[in-house]
Amino acid sequence: MNIGVPKEIKAYENRVGLSPSSVSELVIFNHKVFVQSEAGNGSGFLNEDYVNAGATIVKSIEDLYSSAQLIVKVKEPQESEYKLLKSNHILFTYLHLASSQTLTDGLLNSGATCIAYETVEKADGSLPLLLPMSEIAGRLSVIEGSKYLQKTFGGKGKLISSVPGVASTKVLVIGGGIVGTNAARMASGLGAHVTVIDKNINRLRLLEEILPPNVKTLYSNRKNILNELRHSDIIIGAVLIPGAQAPMLIQKADLKIMEPGTVLVDVAIDQGGCFETSKATTHYDPVYNVDGIIHYCVANMPGSVPRTATEALNNATLPYVLEIANKGIDEALKNSEIKKGLNIQNGNLTLKALLRH
Ligand SMILES: NC(=O)c1ccc[n+]([C@@H]2O[C@H](COP(=O)([O-])OP(=O)(O)OC[C@H]3O[C@@H](n4cnc5c(N)ncnc54)[C@H](O)[C@@H]3O)[C@@H](O)[C@H]2O)c1
Repeated sequence: MNIGVPKEIKAYENRVGLSPSSVSELVIFNHKVFVQSEAGNGSGFLNEDYVNAGATIVKSIEDLYSSAQLIVKVKEPQESEYKLLKSNHILFTYLHLASSQTLTDGLLNSGATCIAYETVEKADGSLPLLLPMSEIAGRLSVIEGSKYLQKTFGGKGKLISSVPGVASTKVLVIGGGIVGTNAARMASGLGAHVTVIDKNINRLRLLEEILPPNVKTLYSNRKNILNELRHSDIIIGAVLIPGAQAPMLIQKADLKIMEPGTVLVDVAIDQGGCFETSKATTHYDPVYNVDGIIHYCVANMPGSVPRTATEALNNATLPYVLEIANKGIDEALKNSEIKKGLNIQNGNLTLKALLRH
């Protein structure tokens, strides 16, 4: 199959659909891979890396789309790309159709077959192409939180690891799923005292078993959360109710309970955030202060580490890219995981969540 990798044109997006290593895997099966010139630059992959891996570099985005049948991207196509998509194309990328009617209409009109990373689903209900971004965001949340805890960045002036003879720094993680577990692992590894709060008691049982002894678990209720706020230095919001807005777990009035310079990192901001005072920020202006409390609410945290994020994403997407390319779309859709990813086919919406609305 002819596979195309366009350069991402969404603002601040530095990831790329296929890494040179993924290209090498695809050419083994005699697939032809076309990469738009400089598509990998933001992730540190140069044209020559792709050529060495067996790809053909294509100058313009128009030539890229006309050379390939399977288009592997990261972000949803932008308006200027809608007209480049034709009915023979298979588009494989993050789509988030629910957030844009214009995008949905653009893709429906193109006639292309559109498979969304975020709805590819395993039999156990897990979302394998969202998971690596949650791992990254969870780990980054502690790095960012510990940075803003420093006095120079407006925080309390505490070192996350502390030192012998000085009281430990305390990290509260609300939500013990993928983001929360990675945050707890990172913070505990740095020597902080960590508390993970979750509503799912079985998840808390598992975390108690797999995380080190400087991580404690607590059931999620209002009283437990308020008690923890008093002495926490970094508070990480990592809750998710699938398909719904994040629950509001810290209210504006609660900020008074916290010590000035406490850092809130609301990772759940992409689902509306779980702190009342959260509003989405960008990597270029990531924090703001409300009543002496620092808020970090970047909605695309993996965007600051595109090299790691591209490689992690490729590790997860490549098996599906290979399956679609090797079998063709009709056979590949017999795999229920890929079928769940199908959002649009032959100008029809096939995503159940959207059909219900
Ligand atoms: N900002 C970013 O760049 C970024 C990147 C990746 C993921 N995210 C977001 O991070 C959030 C967490 O993602 P995840 O992959 O860890 O989800 P997950 O489903 O693995 O974990 C969510 C956890 O929240 C718990 N939870 C639900 N309601 C709760 C409550 N009231 N109190 C305490 N815990 C509660 C669930 O039991 C679950 O364990 C999501 O909103 C996701 O979209 C953001």
